[in-house]
Amino acid sequence: MSNLALLLLLVTSAVADNCSHTFNKVNFTRTAILTIKGLPTNLVYNPFTKDLLFTLIDLETLQNDEVQTKMDQYILRDNEPIKIENINGQAAAVDVENNKVYLASDDGLHVLNKTDRASFLAFKDEDIVQLFKPRNSDDLYAVFFPDNEVYKIDMSRNEKERVENIPCAFIVAVDSDDNIYYECDSKFVKVLLKGFQESIEFIGIPKNSARAIAVNEESYVVLAANDGLYWLRPDNVIPKKMMDLDYVPAGIAFNGDNFYVSTTGVIYKYEMC
Ligand SMILES: *[C@@H]1O[C@H](CO)[C@@H](O)[C@H](O)[C@H]1NC(C)=O
Ligand SMILES: *[C@@H]1O[C@H](CO)[C@@H](O)[C@H](O)[C@H]1NC(C)=O
Ligand SMILES: *[C@@H]1O[C@H](CO)[C@@H](O)[C@H](O)[C@H]1NC(C)=O
Repeated sequence: MSNLALLLLLVTSAVADNCSHTFNKVNFTRTAILTIKGLPTNLVYNPFTKDLLFTLIDLETLQNDEVQTKMDQYILRDNEPIKIENINGQAAAVDVENNKVYLASDDGLHVLNKTDRASFLAFKDEDIVQLFKPRNSDDLYAVFFPDNEVYKIDMSRNEKERVENIPCAFIVAVDSDDNIYYECDSKFVKVLLKGFQESIEFIGIPKNSARAIAVNEESYVVLAANDGLYWLRPDNVIPKKMMDLDYVPAGIAFNGDNFYVSTTGVIYKYEMC
């Protein structure tokens, strides 16, 4: 997108947006809280620090097959993006119970320390591309490159165990009942219910359109897809459409009733009116 187009988009969103976005029958205001060159993705909110963490993908390297895609891990604090300089960060997860922020990198798992640096924890030389921390369990879920297999990590012992029956995941989220929602190989969105051996496919979501999944405080699972936001329920294969989007989302995160959605060059905040 050109700078002019981006500017017009921002101006539009800053003026014309009062209460015009409906999510679950409630009106929201949309504000662009950050504009940045690249694609912000893997959004996650930290309720303790009020930081919004995101990974920034360099679009030029993403489109060039010859080079490794360049990514950096950022913290958005008081509307200022802060880059975590000492790792190649690829995703973050917040442990709400223990007030910790885990960082995935191309060289293992790290934790964010008081000076906004990454301190190494485990899995040296392993390329971790996704992280998810459920609120009410001690496990951390991680996706390891190159096969994108999902592992459950016991944080007290730094031991990982492969999650069977999920062949791969490009996006992953876990609800409070340990049901695992994922998308593998750019196909369909599925859920592996706790105790089941076979995943169930959600219907009605276009193929290749899933972009991100977030779980709110009440354990509602929301998928951001190319055509909008869907509520994924563990007991119904038909998701509920919550909101149409007029842009392709890349990341989603909840902060109480409010939420953030990112797209190329922008992070939006949706606030209840
Ligand atoms: C949107 O709401 C704000 C605060 O309530 C108000 O100041 C502003 O004029 C409104 N903008 C429009 C376009 O209605
Ligand atoms: C909510 O949005 C709808 C549709 O844009 C509008 O008709 C309605 O007046 C809004 N309600 C409030 C309370 O702003
Ligand atoms: C944070 O981590 C960096 C890099 O590992 C280290 O140099 C620094 O001393 C750490 N700061 C604190 C407060 O632990």
